[in-house]
Amino acid sequence: MKFFVDSADVEEIGELAETGLIDGVTTNPSLVAKSGRNFLDVVKEICSIVDGPVSAEVTALDSKTMIEEGKKLKGLAENIAIKVPLTWDGLKACKALSDEGTMVNVTLCFSANQALLAAKAGATFISPFIGRLDDMGLDGMELIEEIRTIYDNYEGLNTQILAASIRSVNHVKQSALIGADVATVPGKVIKQLATHPLTDKGLDAFMKDWEKTGQTIL
Ligand code: G3P
Repeated sequence: MKFFVDSADVEEIGELAETGLIDGVTTNPSLVAKSGRNFLDVVKEICSIVDGPVSAEVTALDSKTMIEEGKKLKGLAENIAIKVPLTWDGLKACKALSDEGTMVNVTLCFSANQALLAAKAGATFISPFIGRLDDMGLDGMELIEEIRTIYDNYEGLNTQILAASIRSVNHVKQSALIGADVATVPGKVIKQLATHPLTDKGLDAFMKDWEKTGQTIL
């Protein structure tokens, strides 16, 4: 499974990218607003930090302007993926942009039928929002499972499932068990993936026993 950082914080992205474990970045208008920076500048900087796909979202609601915005964003860097919302206009823009070879990430997906249409529209990535379904007492993981089943039924559907709105390490594990292609994960949750109390306890015991030997490796 590929790991994308769900962030527009260049410091956070840079720190995580140094691990070599990050395959891309997703931003959205809320994350850009939170960064407090100019949208085009921050996206350009993120593209220079991470080689993989960097999602930048259009803000128009009509397909014609979405396509114009998408073409402008695409010009920022080779690794830009254009994010469009899962609306009729977003699907039209997705079809037009993907037909020209532009990577498109169709976002704000909350149903399997929406995901099916996005794949038909040539989406590179589909972003089903797990956490926001959970917030409503629904089962976000069930959506990931449904999309995986539908996409695997048809050879011609090549859209990658990009599990989004991830709030916990369990969302990441469940997405991997189901077979999502990508998980876009907040930096804080990525760091939580590496931790376990027994690892800390075991390492502490190793270090205490090693100190008793009085030896050093270097
Ligand atoms: O990539 C989509 C993600 O940023 C949305 O997450 O927690 O606002 O539902 P959240």
